[in-house]
Amino acid sequence: MKIPFLTKKDEQSNIYYAEGTIPDHVAIIMDGNGRWAEKRGMPRFIGHKTGLATVVTVVKAAVKCKVKVLTLYTFSKENWKRPKPEVEFILKLPKEFLHVYLPDIQANNVRIEVIGNMEGLPAATQEALQYAIDSTKNNDGLQLNLALNYGSKQEMLQAMKRMFTDLVDEKVFLDQVDEEQFSKYLNTANIPNPDLLIRTGGEKRLSNFLLWQMAYTEFCFTDVLWPDFSEHEFKLAIEEYQSRKRRYGGL
Ligand code: FPP
Repeated sequence: MKIPFLTKKDEQSNIYYAEGTIPDHVAIIMDGNGRWAEKRGMPRFIGHKTGLATVVTVVKAAVKCKVKVLTLYTFSKENWKRPKPEVEFILKLPKEFLHVYLPDIQANNVRIEVIGNMEGLPAATQEALQYAIDSTKNNDGLQLNLALNYGSKQEMLQAMKRMFTDLVDEKVFLDQVDEEQFSKYLNTANIPNPDLLIRTGGEKRLSNFLLWQMAYTEFCFTDVLWPDFSEHEFKLAIEEYQSRKRRYGGL
């Protein structure tokens, strides 16, 4: 199906991209893997595994649309409450993902970063992620942030503690503390706030994801389960974003 808003052609890459405003930063809550599998009478982990292919599809769609930053909620602090075998399975997925798709990621000039507490992840997962971060660090296309072992409230508390330490050490002074200053202590320092949040799987909540950063983000909720999410759905979400009027509390 032709996507009507992709009207401009990039002569170098030969791809079409949107004429209107493209969100610089898209954040995604990838929900619905478990239900996708259960609906098919399969164990939940098959849904997570199938979700890996969707990740690479969406990364490529973001590259095509000239999005600059894509942040994917991959494993939350609260996800530790799931049964141990599921947690262990999900935490092995980054390594599997990188083993299969890192060449694709490189070919698309994507730079991988992690937000969250990497040190809490299994050693093999940390190693795979560190390798991906190091080997993509000179890529200057899309920045792909994997939010792993991430929780927004925990991130803010950590930031506050680091800022208090700097206040006590007189590296920062109380009258300098404003939103911009506090943002520098977050995992997302130097990353623009998300312009668009997409949540798949039908739920309409933020689930402790980028609470500070999404104060003025546009939200797009879809019932499509993550393994079924496609380039087409991604472009529809961008199209919906383009129809919004962002006023940031003004008129
Ligand atoms: C939520 O679906 C999904 C997760 C907690 C895991 C997300 C992980 C992936 C999509 C694959 C990992 C990706 C990378 C890049 C390594 P759910 O299990 O809550 O689904 P449900 O609501 O249907 O139960």
